[in-house]
Amino acid sequence: MNESTNGVARDERNRVRIFDTTLRDGEQSPGISLNRQEKVEIAHQLARLGVDVIEAGFPITSPGDAESVRAIAREVEGPVICGLARTAVQDIDAAWNAVKEAERPRIHTFIATSDIHIERKLQTTREDVKGQARAAVAHARAYTDDVEFSPEDGSRSDVEFMAEVIQIALDEGATTINVPDTVGYTMPFEYAAMFEELYRLLPALRGVALSVHCHNDLGLAVANSLAGLGAGCRQVECAINGIGERAGNASLEEIVMLLHTRESSLGLWTGIDTREIARTSRLVSRLTGYAVQPNKAIVGRNAFAHEAGIHQDGVLKERTTYEIMDAATIGLEKNSIVLGKHSGRHALRNALEELGFEVEGAALNTAFRRFKELADKKKKVTALDLEAIVSDEMRQSPDAYALESFDVEASSGRAPHATVSVRAPDGEVREGSFTGDGPVDAFFSAINAATGIDARLKEYHVSAVTGGRDALGEVTVLLELDGALASGQGVSTDILEASGRAYLRALGGALSSRDESARPEQAPAA
Ligand code: KIV
Ligand code: ZN
Repeated sequence: MNESTNGVARDERNRVRIFDTTLRDGEQSPGISLNRQEKVEIAHQLARLGVDVIEAGFPITSPGDAESVRAIAREVEGPVICGLARTAVQDIDAAWNAVKEAERPRIHTFIATSDIHIERKLQTTREDVKGQARAAVAHARAYTDDVEFSPEDGSRSDVEFMAEVIQIALDEGATTINVPDTVGYTMPFEYAAMFEELYRLLPALRGVALSVHCHNDLGLAVANSLAGLGAGCRQVECAINGIGERAGNASLEEIVMLLHTRESSLGLWTGIDTREIARTSRLVSRLTGYAVQPNKAIVGRNAFAHEAGIHQDGVLKERTTYEIMDAATIGLEKNSIVLGKHSGRHALRNALEELGFEVEGAALNTAFRRFKELADKKKKVTALDLEAIVSDEMRQSPDAYALESFDVEASSGRAPHATVSVRAPDGEVREGSFTGDGPVDAFFSAINAATGIDARLKEYHVSAVTGGRDALGEVTVLLELDGALASGQGVSTDILEASGRAYLRALGGALSSRDESARPEQAPAA
């Protein structure tokens, strides 16, 4: 037993386990296609954040996903590493093969228990669902003693039937039972009542970890998760920035900060290092291309901004007049790192280390070159700048398309024209040019001409990494290729260069998802 800073007694009974599904349910959001290196980078950051479980992917869905889960299982220390599987033997085998090298592997298997899913989606019977659940948990338990079972669409299931299926999963040795609100339909009092009923029907549930998994279709994912915790659940499944299927999953940072800020009322706590929240949010946003809305709770850029004069006056006199959380608690304090053009390689390496990047050898040389380019244009290079350029560079894979050079002419009264040189994955440098409606349109069409790939731009966003006229620009591009969406990001002091990098990355992602989906063994996403 220990004590929180609020003087609340903390013990295992009131500890809430954080099960992060950013890399599985979160990655199922349209347009997100993270490569292995990006997934491993996010997983390392989730471990620094202190999550209890990382759901690293759904290995049967593609060889690429299986490979990423395997890499995370091998490399990332600390959290339990979990792989998702339907009830089929091949799914469970694929999940096990992907997670088995983890220090603490988990298999998460699921089957729907609502009548609408059983009859319309699975086109089977309740009896068959029971048989599949039994066989799946038994098969998973033959591999590991950490097995999670989810009755999908639990909140819309007949609770007595769902209890029968859960009992079967428990009989076969499931150690965590997760009851999802798959379609974001339930309301907090209903979700809590459902868990109370499950406890009444299945007293054995008191001895296992019971979990919530809520989608945000009605904006209730966090409220429903809290209701589940109030009813006795002690695991929350959630995702950074609330990303996930449709309207997303419950947002990890909102749940964690809710439990942290209201610990003295709720009496619940987590093992999360809250000072890593802002950084994790930035990383996930940058790598997924999903921008965080400015007014998003906890991590939106306005979450700690005060516009009204009365508020500003209040905060200057006493922060807590209008702030219920301290920005420093989530890692938003002004970082002390500031480098300039005279800073050397050693200072850069120390600064990067302080930011959690271990950069050596060739990677350090590249980071140093980019830092010098930046320091020539920008007087003070801050922690946010370094984080942006290093994670931009770390994403540049040697076997992807790369921007060699570009020339964009734009003036009033003449159609903009762009010429680009792109290095293809086979090392050949190809040129393309185009006259477009605007400079960005001409630039991207010239890239299409150089690569011979006819991708279509769907969305284009530019933001500044820090304030000031010399700020680094960060561009996010969403494009479509043969019906599939893919996003990419690029960072540079030159917006056009950042745009070209972002476009080529999105193109690389689109090509690899096209190759993946051409494989016959694809499973549908959960
Ligand atoms: O939303 C859901 O039901 C899921 C399950 C696979 C747990 O994501
Ligand atoms: Zn889900």
